[in-house]
Amino acid sequence: MSKITAFGTYVPEKIIDNHYFEDIIDTNDEWIMSRTGIKTRRFAKDGEYTSDLSVKAAENLVANSGKDLSDVDFIIVCTTSPDQPMPNAASRVQYKLGIENTGCNDIYAACAGFVYGLQVAHGFVNSGIYRKVLVIGAETLSKIMDFEDRTSCILFGDGAGAALIEPSDEEHFQAFNSGTNGDFGHDLYLSHKKNSINGVGINPNSRIIQNGRSVFKWAVGNIPNKIRELVAKAGLTLDDIDFIVPHSANLRIIEAIARDLGYPMEQIPESVSEYGNTSSASIPLAIAKAERNGKIKKGDTLLLIGFGGGLTFAGTILKW
Ligand code: UT7
Repeated sequence: MSKITAFGTYVPEKIIDNHYFEDIIDTNDEWIMSRTGIKTRRFAKDGEYTSDLSVKAAENLVANSGKDLSDVDFIIVCTTSPDQPMPNAASRVQYKLGIENTGCNDIYAACAGFVYGLQVAHGFVNSGIYRKVLVIGAETLSKIMDFEDRTSCILFGDGAGAALIEPSDEEHFQAFNSGTNGDFGHDLYLSHKKNSINGVGINPNSRIIQNGRSVFKWAVGNIPNKIRELVAKAGLTLDDIDFIVPHSANLRIIEAIARDLGYPMEQIPESVSEYGNTSSASIPLAIAKAERNGKIKKGDTLLLIGFGGGLTFAGTILKW
């Protein structure tokens, strides 16, 4: 059986408020705040990459827990913005942390990445394949945003979160689900060479492109039922869940999910207002913020659900 035994996060120092964009594109603080709930986000420095943020999150995990990472036997980095396509970001983290003998792989599932990472780590540990798995959700989206596209560049930010999964006498993971609608692939993408997805023309400019309205509709139309499905799978009801932590894409999406479920907003931690949409890092950053504010405590039952580019989603219920 397995559980998360240590946890840490990191955000870059540079704080970017909404006024920053007023000089670059036709937008304003009021529009961004009212449509997304975002007040600020963090951008990495030049020369600061996803593996650097990952290492800082792992160091924070060590500072929080006193854990020794030298015998980690698998590193999973969940990211859409690796330092480069090859080698994978996990191998850069292995090198920078000086972990001698460990497998390394990346999970490339956009905003669902961190929860997919936890699912894989749980499978590794419970099957006995590996005993100490480091899962990191990390992004430097500021390096792959289109700063000429006002519908997307105001949304994203950089950050990282790390969790250590190890064997346990008691199972802390209670249920999992995941799913994908690949027919919406052209609504949120990053493309280098291709000119179409599913027969729909796309822009191969190596920047994030999205049809915000379509992604918004898909999320609010599907995620509440996926949450209900997950809760039922665990043999629980929504009353048993202390906190639902959805991907922090947009405060309006979170409010719509809360309304649909009839679940209180106070029990839905978010990171989007302070850090923007940090994709794979948004769920760990929301948990860290809620811990700092004294909301989430050890032993609480959390439902995590990530969703985004694919379009794909992944959920889990676990004891924190
Ligand atoms: O991480 C997972 C993936 N991403 C998401 O979850 C994003 C989901 N979608 C969203 O969050 C929202 O759709 C957005 C925040 C991206 C956009 O909000 P919206 O309420 O759906 O706006 P819209 O696209 O319907 O645009 C409304 C208007 C348009 O003007 P017209 O056509 O009505 O004249 C846009 O051109 O707002 C305009 N607009 C802007 N105005 C000022 C779009 N972006 C901006 C901007 N500033 N930055």
